[in-house]
Amino acid sequence: MRGFQLAQQVPIALGERSYQIAIGPGLLDDPASYQAAPARTQALVVTNTTVAPLYGERLARALAGRHAQVRQLVLPDGEQHKTWESLNLIFDALLGHGADRKTVLYALGGGVVGDMTGFAAACYMRGVPFVQVPTTLLAQVDSSVGGKTAINHPLGKNMIGAFYQPLAVVCDLEVLRTLPPRELSAGLAEVIKYGPIADMAFLDWIEAHVDALRACDADALAHAVRRSCEVKAHVVGQDERESGLRAILNFGHTFGHAIEAGMGYGAWLHGEAVGAGMVMAAELSRALGLVDAAFVQRLTALIARAGLPTRGAVIDAQDNAGRYLQLMRVDKKAEAGEIRFVVIDGPGRAAVRAAPDALVRQVIDRCCE
Ligand code: NAD
Ligand code: GLY
Repeated sequence: MRGFQLAQQVPIALGERSYQIAIGPGLLDDPASYQAAPARTQALVVTNTTVAPLYGERLARALAGRHAQVRQLVLPDGEQHKTWESLNLIFDALLGHGADRKTVLYALGGGVVGDMTGFAAACYMRGVPFVQVPTTLLAQVDSSVGGKTAINHPLGKNMIGAFYQPLAVVCDLEVLRTLPPRELSAGLAEVIKYGPIADMAFLDWIEAHVDALRACDADALAHAVRRSCEVKAHVVGQDERESGLRAILNFGHTFGHAIEAGMGYGAWLHGEAVGAGMVMAAELSRALGLVDAAFVQRLTALIARAGLPTRGAVIDAQDNAGRYLQLMRVDKKAEAGEIRFVVIDGPGRAAVRAAPDALVRQVIDRCCE
């Protein structure tokens, strides 16, 4: 990365649960980034075996003047560890250290650490404060923002969780330098999603800057993180608990979650599954007569340029489409066993629709290897 930008703030307006997303270089080390956290309290930084050696010490140093005590819990790394067992390790640490209701949890890592730490914060003593310090592109543009927290269940992705907002989100753009290219691409899936569902001008911009983003260009990343957070903040501000509108943020996720659960958590990265899932959801939109072939081709080409898969996984050699349908019936948007898909019903506009199983089967057959 190169260049110098100033930190920017994107507000999330949720009444008394409102907070700021700070975006900029060098925020991790700046004690001022954590001002929203109550002072002179205990702190527990939850991170993982990959992120701890990179950034654990730096965060502890930045927090030292604010908190009476700063401890760290290092979890195993990986989507396959987004489980009850890992969640319990957080509770074990909190109880073992005698953490009280004012103890602040810090989630230092990607979406896995962020979702689990947020859920632990929602549950411990019925709720303790927490701060998101996202270190992947995916977490900076999506998972750390908006208060969805969860763990996986073998039968379904993110099935056990809570809506619980952080006190603040601190996105240090410089930490993205150490992200492996495959993880950067996974994050781009969630960046791309904001275009077709809400902002075609942003889609134009991503098309023009996808190579710069993959090369970790500082200005490009700063714009992508800020605009993504703005779109997400706008949606979450209108529908915090997903009674309607917020579901559009799940574009590509219904198919994608089936790939993740069907392949076994961790086999495909979440962003990779969302990339292929967006192509499938776009194909379904076309099959429903909502968008034309050119739109699907345009989105597919961008997803490929982002370094993401554009074909779905075969998750069952005997009855692939049947297995997808089975897994998608436990999607959180399903109602009375009827799967509901986020579709594009015009460029820059999304809707949630049911679709006949036969049509969905055709799309799956066409989209999988
Ligand atoms: P992740 O948390 O597994 O992180 C990806 C990998 O990058 C991990 O190996 C991690 O240790 C490593 N890593 C993290 N920061 C690094 C850095 N700066 N340098 C080097 N390596 C680093 O995966 P993710 O893509 O960040 O998040 C995916 C998760 O987010 C999924 O579980 C998904 O369900 C969830 N999610 C949640 C929401 C939400 O609204 N809560 C939204 C989207 C996704
Ligand atoms: N990532 C989907 C949501 O936050 O609603």
